Amino acid sequence: MMYALEAINITKVYPNGIVANKNVSISVEIGKIHAIVGENGAGKTTLMRIFFGMEKPTSGEIKVFGKKVNLNSPKDAIALNIGMVHQHFMLV
Ligand SMILES: Nc1ncnc2c1ncn2[C@@H]1O[C@H](COP(=O)(O)OP(=O)(O)O)[C@@H](O)[C@H]1O
Ligand SMILES: [Mg+2]
Repeated sequence: MMYALEAINITKVYPNGIVANKNVSISVEIGKIHAIVGENGAGKTTLMRIFFGMEKPTSGEIKVFGKKVNLNSPKDAIALNIGMVHQHFMLV
């Protein structure tokens, strides 16, 4: 099955040693709305920032329509039609 967006075994360890995401995998089906729900600090924003090219995962893969992508900045994400509505105001 082809997915619009996939995270495969994403782990993110911030420089201060905090493990924000540990082996996170999710497959976003084409044409469906998904929600990621969790308590504060669960790692939701970190995962979204990885999908949007704002953070690099420590390990793991992101796929868009089945193809592995390398997201180095939001420009790369936007070029793949990935958008983000931020919780907090973000200047340009
Ligand atoms: N830039 C950062 N540097 C270090 N730790 C961070 C950073 N951003 C988030 N964290 C930590 O990573 C964990 C996950 O945070 P976050 O992704 O914001 O979770 P959520 O959005 O689910 O509340 C928390 O322990 C948080 O304190
Ligand atoms: Mg958050």
